[in-house]
Amino acid sequence: MSIIAEHYNNLAQLGNEQRRESPIFYLRAFNNWVKSVSIGEALNVIRNEQRRDVRLRALDLCCGKGGDMKKWAAGRLDKVVFADIAEVSVRQAEERYQEMTRRSRARIFRAEFVHADCAAVDLGEKFSDPQQMFDIVSCQFSFHYSFESYERAERMLKNACDRLAPGGIFIGTIPDAHEIMRRLQASDSLKFGNDIYSVTFDTKEQQPLFGAKYHFFLQEHVDCPEFLVHFGVLMDMAEKLDMDVLYRSTFNEFFDEHSANPTHLQLLERMNGLETYPSDSLVGSIEDHQYDYAQEVIDHKLPRSKGAPRVGTLSTPEWEMASMYSVFAFQKKKGPSSLPDDAHADRRSNEQDGNYRGRDSVRSNEQRQQPPPPASPDTSMRRDTKRSRRD
Ligand SMILES: C[S@@+](CC[C@H](N)C(=O)[O-])C[C@H]1O[C@@H](n2cnc3c(N)ncnc32)[C@H](O)[C@@H]1O
Repeated sequence: MSIIAEHYNNLAQLGNEQRRESPIFYLRAFNNWVKSVSIGEALNVIRNEQRRDVRLRALDLCCGKGGDMKKWAAGRLDKVVFADIAEVSVRQAEERYQEMTRRSRARIFRAEFVHADCAAVDLGEKFSDPQQMFDIVSCQFSFHYSFESYERAERMLKNACDRLAPGGIFIGTIPDAHEIMRRLQASDSLKFGNDIYSVTFDTKEQQPLFGAKYHFFLQEHVDCPEFLVHFGVLMDMAEKLDMDVLYRSTFNEFFDEHSANPTHLQLLERMNGLETYPSDSLVGSIEDHQYDYAQEVIDHKLPRSKGAPRVGTLSTPEWEMASMYSVFAFQKKKGPSSLPDDAHADRRSNEQDGNYRGRDSVRSNEQRQQPPPPASPDTSMRRDTKRSRRD
């Protein structure tokens, strides 16, 4: 069994109470918000472009324990196929689905569960209908495991894109290779991180395109090897599969853009994606300066108002973790492939020979280093409208 499968198979399922006590409670909720918004937006694009509202099908690639099941139900899908390398997780996802079906009064999507190494096999061979096509494929916090080698990354990407209908969308979240390399270079050792996460490399030298390994630890969740995904490489590979990039944003950028939309902001509140500060039940520590930014916003950036001002924020360790990720979307071309086959072959050999030279589209690093995001008081991140973690 692979190290990854073993790690996720052995991961304990936390109860609600344990989750609420976790130092990464709000980080998890924030990540869930990013996933919810990107799934919802992709479904909107598909529905608007295809002018159809029913029978949309999704592939949840590397689904884990089925943490996105409610998001699929909210998206009114017709069918969802869940696939993961960790057999125990797939079983737990199936149990979750059965429980959801039992409790739900409305009809929810049909589901199929597949246990497979999605970076090694052609998933089509595992589906009940090998010709099965999808409108949306979602690979959340997982695609990077396949960047161990070109062959595995290509297989995973083909599983994501080959059965997408024209106009279909592939979305995902991955650690941001630029940000990781920036933090590594800024560190005086081979390691960086904080109380809740750490990233450890074997070297600070130039990293290869595939197999750029580091060890990732995230409290309560991850303790295993991962691989850098150079987004420029992913884009080139996706282009060969007739995929156009729709967007790629760091979580900072995604938050800035989407929290400006009142609907998304309300969802963020409902999902507990930010912590109310000040509060007597913070997940982090004021003494360790984990809320300095929120305090600064209250002291200097908020308009004076009656009563004690409050803001929605993340503790610094949680925000440092969240801001290491990026979110992307590709769309399957609606017409025939624009590149001849030999052009694909040329590109492939270039990639395989090359080393990482920062081919990702470069963005402002200053923006990435912003401290935790504040929500102004009029976004109603207030104690009276938002349940605290320990309420
Ligand atoms: C961090 S979890 C994310 C789970 C889920 N997508 C979510 O967002 O909650 C990573 C998942 O990727 C799965 N995974 C890693 N490599 C895989 C592979 N080659 N094939 C299928 N699943 C894989 C792991 O088993 C694990 O469930």
